[in-house]
Amino acid sequence: MRGSGFGNRESTGARLESARYLAVQSMAMPDFVHAAVRAYLSGLTPPDDGLLAEVRDRSKADGVPALSPDAARLLHVVALAAAPRRIFEIGTGYGCSGIQLARALAADGLLFTVERDPRRAAVARGHFERAGLADRVNVMVGEATRLVYKVAGPFDLIFQDGGKDHYEPLLDRLVDLLRPRGILVSDNILWQGDVIPGFRDEPAHAPASATAIIRYSRRLADDPRLETVFLPIGDGVAVSVKRDTKVCPQ
Ligand SMILES: C[S@@+](CC[C@H](N)C(=O)[O-])C[C@H]1O[C@@H](n2cnc3c(N)ncnc32)[C@H](O)[C@@H]1O
Repeated sequence: MRGSGFGNRESTGARLESARYLAVQSMAMPDFVHAAVRAYLSGLTPPDDGLLAEVRDRSKADGVPALSPDAARLLHVVALAAAPRRIFEIGTGYGCSGIQLARALAADGLLFTVERDPRRAAVARGHFERAGLADRVNVMVGEATRLVYKVAGPFDLIFQDGGKDHYEPLLDRLVDLLRPRGILVSDNILWQGDVIPGFRDEPAHAPASATAIIRYSRRLADDPRLETVFLPIGDGVAVSVKRDTKVCPQ
């Protein structure tokens, strides 16, 4: 592992995940949007600042997933619009998305972010420190399936970027944790095209994870508590707003 003395201590599970991530990264990300359109739009988008670029490079070098630049920008803009005081994130990684989220917080706001790999959590803490955000970010180390019941809502915004098998089982709890009109952002809903039969010649991921994401997206689409838009940005992002039943009963 680059730039840390923790490499030998990384768990077998995390090493396997990193190896799988590097293998997946070596497959070209399919074009969900025409390449010329993406090039045009990315020409309008400011590049990552120095720290974000460094976090992204380090994530890539270590095989730790990080949100794509366009999806990270979307997350930041959505978060700014929500003017959040409290944000919850599942899947800290090295902190790329967390930096974008925490930068949108009010001065007295807090981001709670969950990471099961202690080594990744330690690296992310260092990045939040360098971003001047350490006082606004609480990195919680452990299993998301347990920690979602340790935090208390309401949250203004939740970002789901953890284990894909857990997306659907955790949905009810995350909706409960959101305030009315709160926003749930979910990454990887296109799973490099694996959710679309016949899109790829060879699947990039295990079929079970694609099935889990398909089930999750169906739940988002059908959930009467949520209003959701699905976007072909990055690896596919869903943005859901929790309905305020007092304002718009369903
Ligand atoms: C896609 S990466 C997060 C990337 C990060 N959001 C970013 O953009 O920089 C997912 C992370 O979730 C963590 N993770 C996966 N399953 C988890 C679980 N059940 N509980 C807690 N963390 C989990 C992984 O260790 C990994 O670091």
